[in-house]
Order: sequence, then C-alpha cells, then structure tokens
Amino acid sequence: MSRAPFQLALLDAAHERKTFNSGSEPLDRYLREQVTQDVRRRVAACFVASEDGTRVAGYYTLASASLLLAELPASTGKKLPRYPTVPAVRMGRLAVDKGFKGQGLGGALLADALGRAARSEVAAYALMVDAKDDTAASFYRHHGFIALPDSPRTLFLPLATVQGV
Ligand SMILES: CC(C)(COP(=O)(O)OP(=O)(O)OC[C@H]1O[C@@H](n2cnc3c(N)ncnc32)[C@H](O)[C@@H]1OP(=O)(O)O)[C@@H](O)C(=O)NCCC(=O)NCCS
Repeated sequence: MSRAPFQLALLDAAHERKTFNSGSEPLDRYLREQVTQDVRRRVAACFVASEDGTRVAGYYTLASASLLLAELPASTGKKLPRYPTVPAVRMGRLAVDKGFKGQGLGGALLADALGRAARSEVAAYALMVDAKDDTAASFYRHHGFIALPDSPRTLFLPLATVQGV
C-alpha cells in the first residue's frame, strides 16, 4: 500500500507524542516527557514527520553546538582558522517509529536537518551527532559522516558538502 507523503514541521500541540515507539525507550521518553520543555527554554528545536499532522512517524532535534578544533581529524583542522572551537549544529536526537522504519524516512529526516543547518544565516561548519550506539554510528557513516578520531561515536558532516539545499 502506498503511503501519503510526510509533512515535516515544527513540533506542535496537534502532534500525538504518547504513542511514538522507535524501539529506543530513551528516545521515546524524550519525545513524551522532555522535548516541549527544551523547546520552551530554547535549548532544542524539534522537527516532526507525520502523514496526517497528528501521528508522529519520526522526529529530530537541532541546537547550536561547537566542535573542538583539536579533536577534528588533522586533515580537516588544518583547513580551519586557529580558533579553539568550530561552530556546529548538533542533531541531538533522531528517531523513526517502528511502523515506518526501513522506508527512507530516517534518511529523509537527516537530509532535512542538513538542509536547515546549511541554509541558516547563522554560520556553522558542520552538522554533528553523538551516536547512541555502534548501529547508529554506522547509520551516520553510511550517510558520509566522519567520526572524530578519539571519539568515534561523535560524527560530523561539513555543511559545505551539502548539495542542493
Ligand atoms: C536509525 C534510524 C533513524 C534509521 O531510520 P530508517 O527510516 O529506518 O532508515 P532509512 O530507511 O531512511 O535508511 C536510509 C539509509 O540508511 C541505511 N541504514 C539504515 N540503518 C543503518 C545502519 N544502522 N547502518 C548503516 N546503514 C543504515 C539504509 O540501508 C538506507 O540506505 P540507502 O539510502 O543507501 O538505501 C532508525 O532505525 C531509528 O529510529 N533507530 C532507533 C533510534 C536511533 O538509533 N537513532 C539514531 C540517533 S542516536
């Protein structure tokens, strides 16, 4: 059966957060219990994919962040100014409901996050993520993310490489 196209929008009160089930309890609980407070305090923005504007099929969060220049791979660091930190956007969470996995939605949410970060008027060198486990890290590497040499679960993708945003 073909599915309706997803709407991608900022989280709002119409989204049904209680039934979301990604298979990762911390990510489900965050959406249920924590995210609205983080949005209100401006420590995260939350974007939601939904077919009908109500049921949440997937979500991700974005916030400002920084990478330590000394922790980047030497080949990347040598092309950047000698400031101790490099501006970045952190995708703090990314999750797809079990009923929607394996259909390209996770990749589409990631592409949407990269597009938003790359189009922002506030400059950031890269989108960064802290992968929660090796499977998640492998998902990001599959999409071209580069791991920090000494913290392989922290990965980044330079936004200058993002095409067609
Ligand atoms: C990781 C997650 C977001 C992927 O979502 P999804 O909708 O199932 O993934 P997609 O169908 O969009 O897959 C997109 C591509 O990534 C690939 N992929 C998916 N999971 C992968 C993995 N663990 N390792 C490598 N590649 C992976 C797919 O094969 C697909 O490749 P293709 O575009 O070349 O065909 C989802 O499985 C999830 O919510 N997991 C639990 C939470 C989690 O781990 N979040 C990560 C943030 S810490």
